[in-house]
Amino acid sequence: MIAIRSFCIATIVTAGCAFFGVAVHASPKPAQKAAVANPTPEQLDQGKQTFESTCSTCHGLDGGGAMGPNIQGIPFRLGTDAVANIIKNGISNGGMPAFGATLSAAQIQSVVDYLLSLTRKDAGPVNGDATRGKQVYAANGCANCHMIDGEGGDSGPELSNVGGERGPSYLRTTLLYPGEDLPQARVFLESGGQLDFLYVEVVTKDGHTVDGTRVAEDSFHIVLKDANGKFHSFRKEDLRDLKKEPGKSLMPSFKGKISDADINDLVAYLASLKGAQ
Ligand code: HEC
Ligand code: HEC
Repeated sequence: MIAIRSFCIATIVTAGCAFFGVAVHASPKPAQKAAVANPTPEQLDQGKQTFESTCSTCHGLDGGGAMGPNIQGIPFRLGTDAVANIIKNGISNGGMPAFGATLSAAQIQSVVDYLLSLTRKDAGPVNGDATRGKQVYAANGCANCHMIDGEGGDSGPELSNVGGERGPSYLRTTLLYPGEDLPQARVFLESGGQLDFLYVEVVTKDGHTVDGTRVAEDSFHIVLKDANGKFHSFRKEDLRDLKKEPGKSLMPSFKGKISDADINDLVAYLASLKGAQ
């Protein structure tokens, strides 16, 4: 996924952002030492507090996943060291900030212990049929804007690994309310998430309105890509108005356009996409 994740706006992740440059993708190793010395109730409680204040905006209050994936019990799958490493270093272009500068090693350990204590519930309403969802995807023009395994357009983010990056409830919300100013979406945006796809509307001095996602911008120019994938380049001095609207999206809402059953299948399909990036 092409990503310029280094926009640092939200104070909550500012410190983490400074580390984006050096963050490494911790390669998941099979869990070897999932079992740790039993943490005290105080340690678990500290882990819970740290989790709720630092991680829950993206991973859900119960770790069941939001715009970040479900991480309940994840140390069992990846190993405690690998998880501590991910928390410390982040995932460089996946939208997972690095917390090495804001959390002490002891705090990180307490969060890992807390994650171990959460058993994986299937928080996601993935009760649809992924195979049918693939057809829904094909029938609704999603591929005009999205790429999966090298096929499709690129006005929107690549989706080849979207099931690994996002939780089902976030996927559902995205389809129904793209770009909406939901509290979580706001945090995500401010942490650098979809600023890659910042929605911009310009009005030229001769009265043309063009909207699209921002591809490039400097002091004098801005380049947009519209919903058809066409590029539009403007000199700022030729514009009457330039509106950046992080709460809006080029992505149309599918609420009411796709039946609930089809949305379920589509979410199941997206959740199943866990390809390598
Ligand atoms: C700004 C949103 C955000 C915050 C805050 C955040 N994460 Fe993440 N996290 C993500 C995203 C997005 C991913 C998926 C990245 C990818 O796979 O490319 C992720 C991935 C992970 C993974 C790896 C999951 C896997 O299946 O490999 C772990 C573990 C994790 N986060 C733990 C945490 C913990 C613990 C905290 C709090 C200390 C935290 N995260 C805070 C967004 C966030
Ligand atoms: C006109 C272009 C366009 C079309 C058509 C479109 N999208 Fe999008 N989509 C976008 C853009 C731009 C974004 C990023 C901004 C946002 O999240 O709103 C996005 C975001 C998403 C995301 C969130 C990705 C992430 O990593 O957070 C998902 C999932 C998604 N689209 C799925 C779909 C599906 C499924 C369809 C078809 C039913 C579809 N899109 C149709 C442009 C489009």
